[in-house]
Amino acid sequence: MKLQDLCEVFCTSDFPGLGVQAHPNRSSVLEARAAVTAAVQDDELLLDCVARELAMLENHELRRSLVPFHIISDLGIAFAFGYHPPGARPGPHEHTAWTITAVCRNELEMRTWDRDESYRRRELVPKNRFQAVSGRVGFVYDPCIHEPRNVSADWSMSLHVISPLDGERPTSETESPPPGLDMGFMPSPEADQHPYRRVQAARQRQTFVRELHGLITSTGRRQARDLYGQCLRLGPPGLRRAADGRDHIEQSWTLTRTHPGLALDHHRADGSVTLYAQTPAGASAEIVIDDVACAAIELAAREQSFEVRDLPGALSSEERRSIGEALERTGLTLFHPQAGWLITA
Ligand SMILES: [Fe+2]
Repeated sequence: MKLQDLCEVFCTSDFPGLGVQAHPNRSSVLEARAAVTAAVQDDELLLDCVARELAMLENHELRRSLVPFHIISDLGIAFAFGYHPPGARPGPHEHTAWTITAVCRNELEMRTWDRDESYRRRELVPKNRFQAVSGRVGFVYDPCIHEPRNVSADWSMSLHVISPLDGERPTSETESPPPGLDMGFMPSPEADQHPYRRVQAARQRQTFVRELHGLITSTGRRQARDLYGQCLRLGPPGLRRAADGRDHIEQSWTLTRTHPGLALDHHRADGSVTLYAQTPAGASAEIVIDDVACAAIELAAREQSFEVRDLPGALSSEERRSIGEALERTGLTLFHPQAGWLITA
């Protein structure tokens, strides 16, 4: 099954067209939920979704909420992956239209609140709590307040199918939401233009790609091999090292500053050297390392692009590699594969 096959279920049902202020029948959402339940068991569909998500992650935007990897153009129905780090508690939030949520990796604890009582009493009134393991698919039809928590020690992933009307206040309601309800975070436009946002986005992308790599690995399908190269290129440096075990220092390992306008500086003190990045809130210490790496860090702060094997100083190749990986992990620099960089996974 491909994602397009799942989309057909929505297209051939009574889901309203984009721009129509109407909700589908409950039976249609239940039918769609059954289709999503079958879909998340289907490796081919998951890999299709991962391929689309990886394409989305090629850009350098910092995500603050779900970002769709596909939208059914005629219906406005969106598909998005959710990433949940261990201990994540995003806060109770409200859905004002139907939505379908599938746990596709690890597990989530779902908490719900009594929406009517919460609005009436002007405080969040707990209602239910249950565990959702991988493969479980839930849905919301009437407006509700809930929160998916990851109470496990591993990352979890979810697949969301979202109504285009979700987030719009029901026209019949005039009351404002009760206090404590997460209404989303809207950063100032100036802050979002800052070069350091690219650094944060690069770090975020590494963790997301690592989880997508795990999802691909769990399918074990031969078709997944095509996606490995993308994961190794976009993911954290440890993924490349684990994947092929080769010494990248012997090959071309070019690092390029994540944003040309990103200001970096370094400072030596007490036997160590610190690499600073300019953030919207001022200078941030990104790497603190033994003074033996001073010349290498000075070069990284000065040059927009460089080869890891050319990092100066009395360093072993392993030390150069560690510095290169640290520079990648911080998101300050990006890995740029050159011709001949071979994916062997
Ligand atoms: Fe939600």
